[in-house]
Amino acid sequence: MIDSFFVPSFGNRPKHLVGRDSVLRRIEMALQSVPGSRERAMIILGQRGSGKTVLLLEIAERAKKKRFIVANPTVVSNGMRNRIMEKLRDECPEYLNETRKKVAGGNVSVLGFGAGIQFNEQASEEKSFSWKITEYCKNANADHHGVMILIDEVRSNSEELRELIISYQEMVGEGLDVSIVFAGLPMAISTLLNDHVLTFLNRAEKIELQPLRTEDIELYYLKAFESLGVEISREKIRLAAEEAAGSPYLMQLIGHYITLNSEGKMSESQFTDSLEYAKRTFKNDICRTSIAPLSDLDIGFLNAMVEDADETNLDDITIRMGKTASFVQTYKRRLIQCGIIEQPRRGKVVFAIPYLKEYLREQA
Ligand SMILES: Nc1ncnc2c1ncn2[C@@H]1O[C@H](COP(=O)(O)OP(=O)(O)OP(=O)(O)O)[C@@H](O)[C@H]1O
Ligand SMILES: [Mg+2]
Repeated sequence: MIDSFFVPSFGNRPKHLVGRDSVLRRIEMALQSVPGSRERAMIILGQRGSGKTVLLLEIAERAKKKRFIVANPTVVSNGMRNRIMEKLRDECPEYLNETRKKVAGGNVSVLGFGAGIQFNEQASEEKSFSWKITEYCKNANADHHGVMILIDEVRSNSEELRELIISYQEMVGEGLDVSIVFAGLPMAISTLLNDHVLTFLNRAEKIELQPLRTEDIELYYLKAFESLGVEISREKIRLAAEEAAGSPYLMQLIGHYITLNSEGKMSESQFTDSLEYAKRTFKNDICRTSIAPLSDLDIGFLNAMVEDADETNLDDITIRMGKTASFVQTYKRRLIQCGIIEQPRRGKVVFAIPYLKEYLREQA
């Protein structure tokens, strides 16, 4: 059957945003706050596939309805500040000072129009990003428009990102109607927050994306399969929702493969094949990439956890790795910061990413 419902790909807006009601309420409050409020800077933290990019796109839509001019999500990279200015120009070119000058300046040069443009572009090139964006904001604010900047895939070591944050802080200092939203993996964000130049970020509104509730996933499947005409029992829907393990991405994958595999009433084997295929894709896209940047010792720590059915005692890791307790503590902290493991209570750790334990077992 053709799937016109599920979107198991990254950065796609799903048909329905599942289980983010309370997060959206907080975002609505932030959008209504006055310029300079701490909620005007938001930080979205979540694991791979938890829906950070989707949420940025949702924020963009909602902000536009509230008269914000929005620079759609820009991924942290070289040249990101130029990209932000380009995006703002695409939304509303009239607030760029260089555009204003260019249009106004008919008498630029005796050498002719072309040479005049060149000269003007050179002049604007020399202006700093901070100057350009501040002028843009002032012009937009004069027309009662706020300006919002969305930054995706935050990296801790980006000089351009630091300079953007400093420019933002200066604009807030000038009382401008501006807002900024970052999204990134917990590890990258926590390093960014520890940067002593960027202490103001610690006061920003932090939104930690939690796993979706199984009931919400189940309800979503119920509606989706009904509207697609997929014949599947309530029992299987419940099972599929449980297998999604709170991950929005896996929820989309499972829904997608069930739909593709369904012809008439869903058989037992069609169902298990769909789950298998979805989980295999998830392990490849999420588990594999999540541990790729880790060191051998990090992986050694994780491998020392896989034999336990549920929680692992830190003491057991010390024994299994043959290392000291303080070594194990250091690695535990690192892996918690990376969002790979969690500490449900003192002396115990568990995996924070669904199916990561299974994936590591399979790799062994
Ligand atoms: N609340 C949600 N309801 C329904 N589907 C969602 C939700 N959040 C995310 N998704 C789906 O999950 C998948 C991953 O979402 P998204 O790309 O936003 O994740 P991400 O956190 O940005 O991942 P990454 O860290 O890899 O960039 C997409 O297919 C998206 O449609
Ligand atoms: Mg993303």
